[in-house]
Amino acid sequence: MGKNLEINSELEKYIEELSYNLHPVQHEIIKYNNSLGDIKRMQISISQCHFLHLITKVSKIKNVLEIGTFTGLSTLSIALALPDDGSLIALDKNESTNNIAINFFKKANQEIKIKTIIKPALESLNDFKKNNKIFDMVFIDADKENYKNYYDISLGLIKKEGLIIVDNVLWHGEVVDKTKNDRLTNIIRDFNSYVKDDKKTEQIILPLGDGFTVCRKL
Ligand SMILES: C[S@@+](CC[C@H](N)C(=O)[O-])C[C@H]1O[C@@H](n2cnc3c(N)ncnc32)[C@H](O)[C@@H]1O
Repeated sequence: MGKNLEINSELEKYIEELSYNLHPVQHEIIKYNNSLGDIKRMQISISQCHFLHLITKVSKIKNVLEIGTFTGLSTLSIALALPDDGSLIALDKNESTNNIAINFFKKANQEIKIKTIIKPALESLNDFKKNNKIFDMVFIDADKENYKNYYDISLGLIKKEGLIIVDNVLWHGEVVDKTKNDRLTNIIRDFNSYVKDDKKTEQIILPLGDGFTVCRKL
């Protein structure tokens, strides 16, 4: 069996340099997040930006729901790949990071495509469910405690063959470290098993950033 490469920071830099260039505002968001200290780890990685952009284009995605906006890096990565008549609803409960994200969306001329909602994501999801709203793709990247709820409700909000993409499913590699038994590691392990056993989707886990699960609704 072929062995996967271990991606060290040198290789990561090489991949980044030889992949398409990020939009200047994506670079600005990354620079801004770096200035925040430890909290910058909330943002997705550059390889994940590239992947979200590509899958949005290749799958001809038009309507997206994002759960967990933060300062807007993943939102913008997807929005820039949407057609002019595409749309993205981004959910977050934090008003101050959301305001920062909105400024970046305006700078990148993407604010027409993006609508943000500031409240606990479960409330918005239940509103969408009541109103029979349907999306092509949902990106889940918020509180891990609600991952199962987000996944279950999202399944009812996407069309057949729609996608659900979930971040942090490898949890810094701790999902396979038997010495790690803290609450969040176990929540992620339970979530991964739950998705694996779900017959309503087919799924793969990609070793990008902190781990992406990509689910296609059957
Ligand atoms: C990991 S960050 C999202 C990172 C973002 N996708 C990016 O690439 O920069 C998680 C976000 O989820 C938000 N969040 C946490 N719990 C939430 C909840 N119950 N409802 C809505 N947003 C929530 C946090 O405020 C935070 O901004």
